[in-house]
Amino acid sequence: MANSNNTSKASNPIGIFDSGIGGLTVATAIKDLLPNEKLIYFGDTAHLPYGEKSADAIKYYGIRISQFLLEQHCKLIVIACNTASAQAYETIKDFVGNKAIVVNVIDPVVEEVARHAQNKHVGVIATKGTIRSDIYARKLKAARKGLEVSSLATPLLVSMIEEGFFNNKISRAVIHSYLEKPKLKKIDSLILACTHFPLIKPEIEEYYNHRMRIVDSAGVVAKEIAAILKKKHLETRLKNPKHRFYVSDYTDSFEKSTRFFFKGKLKLEKADIWK
Ligand code: DGL
Repeated sequence: MANSNNTSKASNPIGIFDSGIGGLTVATAIKDLLPNEKLIYFGDTAHLPYGEKSADAIKYYGIRISQFLLEQHCKLIVIACNTASAQAYETIKDFVGNKAIVVNVIDPVVEEVARHAQNKHVGVIATKGTIRSDIYARKLKAARKGLEVSSLATPLLVSMIEEGFFNNKISRAVIHSYLEKPKLKKIDSLILACTHFPLIKPEIEEYYNHRMRIVDSAGVVAKEIAAILKKKHLETRLKNPKHRFYVSDYTDSFEKSTRFFFKGKLKLEKADIWK
């Protein structure tokens, strides 16, 4: 899942990107687990949502953003978006080559779910783009024979969460109408295959009366990154690292919404990388 790397230095930052601010859930988990690492976040708010875009468009965005993160000397790039991980991981990995390690948010979750023998029928909810790629079903079945996978596109959830609709009557109604679908009736575990979804995890847990094993990528990916940095001797011990948070389109509403996704104060900066 990670490509080899020869040229990075341990004190260089970790780059993280998403179509918008949902990937901040992954950034939070990395910051909590690796508090001495400097983070550079890029939210491609000018092009969100990726879930509705073609694979070609997402590959193009992914390359351009990776180039920006390489210019900031990132030692590792996290594709903190399932849609981009599904559609553009190989392209980005080829583009980055040995200049940095590239990590996607799908492989660590697939490994984690396949490892647990009690998971026999896995549900996956994600954007249209991720579901269309069928990547979770393919990878889960390759990781463990006999595993059943039922995938459902839940396109309303990303914009609902971006607009701050969670933990209220409206979000509960939308979540219930998706989870009630016959497709998900027989599952024994559920993957939240979108980096926005940790925000609605409590409501999903409540829907299942806390009896469903629910896996999201944030914590699992952070652990994977810690293991890779350790193995490659790329850990650092920076004191109070100053993280940077860039977006391709700035609005007050993005700035306000970041507080739902990121633990701690942050200031969004506009980086016009599309010129
Ligand atoms: N957060 C992204 C993901 O994990 C989806 C958001 C989007 O569709 O732009 O798939």
